[in-house]
Amino acid sequence: MSLISSLSLSLCVCVCVCVCRPPTVKQPPTIVKQSLKDYIVDPRDNIIIECEAKGNPVPVFSWRRNGKFFNIGKDPRVTMRKRSGTLEIGFRSGGRPEDYEGEYQCFATNDYGTALSNKILLRVSKAPLWPKEVLEPVVVTEGSPLVLQCNPPPGLPPPYTFWMNSVMSPIPQDKRVSMGLNGDLYFSNVLVQDAQTDYSCNARFLFTHTIQQKNPFSLKVLTNEPYNDTLSYNASDPYGGRKVAETAPSFLSPSGSESFKMVLRGDKLLLECIAAGLPTPGIKWFKKGGELPGHNKVKFENFNKTLRIVSVSEEDAGQYICMASNHLGSIRHSISVQVKAAPYWLDKPTNLVLAPDENGRLVCRANGNPKPQIQWLMNGEPIESSVPNPSRQIVGDTIIFRSVQMGSSAVYQCNASNQHGYLLANAFVSILDLPPRMLGPKNQKIKVIENNRTFLDCPFFGSPLPVLRW
Ligand SMILES: *[C@@H]1O[C@H](CO)[C@@H](O)[C@H](O)[C@H]1NC(C)=O
Ligand SMILES: *[C@@H]1O[C@H](CO)[C@@H](O)[C@H](O)[C@H]1NC(C)=O
Ligand SMILES: *[C@@H]1O[C@H](CO)[C@@H](O)[C@H](O)[C@H]1NC(C)=O
Ligand SMILES: *[C@@H]1O[C@H](CO)[C@@H](O)[C@H](O)[C@H]1NC(C)=O
Ligand SMILES: *[C@@H]1O[C@H](CO)[C@@H](O)[C@H](O)[C@H]1NC(C)=O
Repeated sequence: MSLISSLSLSLCVCVCVCVCRPPTVKQPPTIVKQSLKDYIVDPRDNIIIECEAKGNPVPVFSWRRNGKFFNIGKDPRVTMRKRSGTLEIGFRSGGRPEDYEGEYQCFATNDYGTALSNKILLRVSKAPLWPKEVLEPVVVTEGSPLVLQCNPPPGLPPPYTFWMNSVMSPIPQDKRVSMGLNGDLYFSNVLVQDAQTDYSCNARFLFTHTIQQKNPFSLKVLTNEPYNDTLSYNASDPYGGRKVAETAPSFLSPSGSESFKMVLRGDKLLLECIAAGLPTPGIKWFKKGGELPGHNKVKFENFNKTLRIVSVSEEDAGQYICMASNHLGSIRHSISVQVKAAPYWLDKPTNLVLAPDENGRLVCRANGNPKPQIQWLMNGEPIESSVPNPSRQIVGDTIIFRSVQMGSSAVYQCNASNQHGYLLANAFVSILDLPPRMLGPKNQKIKVIENNRTFLDCPFFGSPLPVLRW
């Protein structure tokens, strides 16, 4: 393997250095740039779907859209960039970006094989308006809990939400009043002062940088005893000594005593518990049968109502418990967290440069939960449907090549997939028969320091790998 990698390294050096004359080493295509698998575009811009590849001869490109050949020549809005597969779709002469939503895949082909891009799912970003609605004033009694719903319009990507008051400044968030993960505004208990402003939920859309505001809620707070608003507000005694019934904690979110959460390895985990009660309950978190992971990994946010793990790993699975308590009692909610995993690489296949009659192997090992399936393709076609080749044997996640022959260069694809996603790798097998050659400059003069180490470099290339002698 180390021979092979040093060989392909020298090969690269040659191709990169000899820019002035065409590189003579033949090479199957390699994709060097492509758009994201999940690609959201701004409808006000031209759509650009990237695909670039290198190889010798220079690869030619073609595309599939939704599994079918995409005839670019027939669509005047689509152009392909020179010496690249990158598509540019413009709407100056009409047309709608939405018509181009779909799944795109790029194919780069030369005499020695075909390399494939990922399947690029293209979608146009959306910032829909808030549905028109008339909101009645919300009436609550002092000391009772309240949830104001946000329900932002389903944008793509989903908007970021926040709450503002009548003079357009943010609603201060604290232990008693805060926004939950779904955008709703939760009051553990309502104060008379809460009625001094309106509440409007705002959605900020990332692509358009627009903010849309929901009609504001106005709040009316009923009191059992007359409220004297000439008295100044005292934070440590918000009810001003008037008789407001204290209540034990109860959960506003989530409901019930148990819930379930599935999260993918590497994604972020957000758990939330918001409780009603007077005095405002405090929230604490535990993990069953163990301690919560180190503090650099687990973060408590939103006044302890949210637990965040930035990048989840398998050992973060388990039973998480949040406890809400005030001096009247405490309650618990248990969230069972399951960690699944989209495929991830253990061994990604790497390019092979072999001389005739040499042996080699491509290894494609991925893990995931559930365990990924491995599918091999050759030049973009399922390997089962390619012409049988006695020098090639597939053993699970490995293709073994024995005594390869000229003319059997190809690009192999390995697709490791489970229900949570897939990984596609391209690796070429290039059969080369090239006499040894030196790649470094001739007659170099090297100055050395007495009694010091010196390094004499001698880059070379050949296939089969030449024996170097000084
Ligand atoms: C990989 O295989 C999965 C499962 O068959 C499939 O959904 C996915 O589209 C494949 N990916 C590519 C790039 O062919
Ligand atoms: C409200 O409080 C002020 C100041 O303590 C007092 O002078 C006034 O009488 C109170 N009004 C009522 C209606 O209780
Ligand atoms: C606020 O209430 C606490 C408890 O009743 C009291 O000790 C304190 O003096 C009050 N502060 C003000 C500024 O009224
Ligand atoms: C927040 O939760 C952590 C973990 O349960 C706990 O150690 C801490 O005391 C809590 N903080 C507050 C202010 O309740
Ligand atoms: C050898 O040369 C390097 C610089 O090329 C220098 O940093 C180092 O100190 C030298 N060592 C000796 C033993 O002279």
